[in-house]
Amino acid sequence: MFASRKTPRTINVITLSPTKRETYLQLRSRRYSHAVLKYDPGHPILSIQQEEEFWKNEVAKGQHMIWDIIFKKSATIGFVHAFNFNDNTCETGISILFQKYRKKGYGYEAYRILFEILRQMSISTTFIWTTALNISAIALYRKLGFTLAETQTDNDLTWVKYMRCL
Ligand SMILES: CC(C)(COP(=O)(O)OP(=O)(O)OC[C@H]1O[C@@H](n2cnc3c(N)ncnc32)[C@H](O)[C@@H]1OP(=O)(O)O)[C@@H](O)C(=O)NCCC(=O)NCCS
Repeated sequence: MFASRKTPRTINVITLSPTKRETYLQLRSRRYSHAVLKYDPGHPILSIQQEEEFWKNEVAKGQHMIWDIIFKKSATIGFVHAFNFNDNTCETGISILFQKYRKKGYGYEAYRILFEILRQMSISTTFIWTTALNISAIALYRKLGFTLAETQTDNDLTWVKYMRCL
């Protein structure tokens, strides 16, 4: 008998672990690669010095949280972020850094784990901003149950905000 479409494609393949400064910096060129930035033009590109500042002023202080997306308990294949904490809400984001790990359900799995972490932190709503061109991200967020909350146009670029209650 065939497995139903609702059967999770990834069971215990993905884990999340708070990232270390070294891992985050080591994967810097991957984070800024064309494959990652293609549909994500809003992603800020920081110099190494700016990254160190960001780490010291935001990550180390817990204002911007980052987790490694770990594949089969060995390789870091991307990161998930939680930031802009305000009351019981925060913004989140994700990148899967290697093409071969995309469209396999790992982004979905990573976000499901992130939701659980955020619930434990008493966060009740999360939102994301991306561009209307980012079809992969929008497909992922919609599948996760996010709904469109706002649209903004900035020059020629349309930005979309998606929200989800946890
Ligand atoms: C967006 C991103 C995280 C998606 O991760 P992923 O692991 O490939 O997504 P998943 O495999 O979990 O896919 C979830 C759903 O979205 C769909 N999807 C993912 N990429 C898609 C694409 N390019 N086109 C159409 N659907 C897509 C999947 O098919 C799946 O739905 P299904 O199960 O019904 O088939 C990944 O493409 C990425 O890192 N992109 C670059 C960085 C980025 O844009 N981050 C978001 C910034 S807001």
